[in-house]
Amino acid sequence: MAKARIAVVGAGLMGHGIAQAFAVAGHEVTITDAVMATLASVPERILANLRELDDDETVLERVHPSADLVATLRDADFVIEAVPEDLPLKRRVFDEIERAARPDAIFASNTSVIPIAKVMGGLNDKSRALGTHWWNPPYLVPLVEVVATRWTSPAALERTLALLGAAGKTPVHVNSDVPGFIGNRLQHALWREAIALVENGVCNAETVDTVIKASFGLRLAVLGPLENADLVGTDQTLAIHKTVLPAIDSRAAASPYLESLVAAGKLGFKSGEGFRPWSAEAQTVLRARLVQHLKSARSLIPPPKGEGGRAPSARTGGGARNQ
Ligand SMILES: NC(=O)c1ccc[n+]([C@@H]2O[C@H](COP(=O)([O-])OP(=O)(O)OC[C@H]3O[C@@H](n4cnc5c(N)ncnc54)[C@H](O)[C@@H]3O)[C@@H](O)[C@H]2O)c1
Repeated sequence: MAKARIAVVGAGLMGHGIAQAFAVAGHEVTITDAVMATLASVPERILANLRELDDDETVLERVHPSADLVATLRDADFVIEAVPEDLPLKRRVFDEIERAARPDAIFASNTSVIPIAKVMGGLNDKSRALGTHWWNPPYLVPLVEVVATRWTSPAALERTLALLGAAGKTPVHVNSDVPGFIGNRLQHALWREAIALVENGVCNAETVDTVIKASFGLRLAVLGPLENADLVGTDQTLAIHKTVLPAIDSRAAASPYLESLVAAGKLGFKSGEGFRPWSAEAQTVLRARLVQHLKSARSLIPPPKGEGGRAPSARTGGGARNQ
């Protein structure tokens, strides 16, 4: 596909990584942030990532940080917002984006769980707006969930899927704008039960993680749950569900145990303890293992689809279809 001009608004954990992914794919990228120190550190953070992956460092020449939102957006074909998960903030940022961007630019939000219609509801032209939910780190994890609202034009959707596919990502079309889209609904269904097992004294937090990492976690990258259900047989799956589903946590609210951890200041890595204690050294070891694992998993990533290639379409269950 022709090279596009990409603008990224928000240069934090996700924004700088998304900028890197587009620059690696050959696109020119402008990036801005409200905090000047964060913006100034974009080149060094991207350079550190490129070095860690033994990637071409000249990629950095295609990333252009700018403190000026208008200059960042002026020429962009595709604008991606990666500011914090705060709905009023995101809506204000999209007001500014709409005033400054070209009338034919596509707008994408990287929200993790907020329905895109809520983020984009204030725009005058909602037909060019959609969600692109990347995963951390964006330059290593291939999936991008592309979320259309009831207003999104087919042309904006197709252009976005083609852009991401040609950039070597694995875009999937989520055609119902439900909270959490697909990946985070699945992920947090698992986390809810993981927390409940600890809360109910079935095992400790370390055991939960060991069980997953030493069993079905190993298979997941090559065998999805529905492939697995077909592999064992839908009849077997039905029999298992009849026994196990009534016993699994189905509370609609966040776990009181999780609430108590947060209230006690046990916030995870950032406070040194969450479900488990985390020394600085243990954090470094885990982060390094994760990057090493994702690097080695690159061979599992499907090849780029290229222009005109169609991404799989996803129909999420529950809730009304938007199109
Ligand atoms: N962290 C993850 O693993 C992850 C994964 C997928 C999606 N997301 C989503 O991506 C978005 C960004 O998350 P993050 O983890 O990168 O957050 P972050 O806090 O690391 O970065 C957000 C950046 O936005 C900047 N910002 C705030 N207001 C701004 C404004 N008005 N204009 C320009 N910049 C502004 C902040 O200074 C900060 O640098 C969120 O919606 C989040 O839910 C996060």
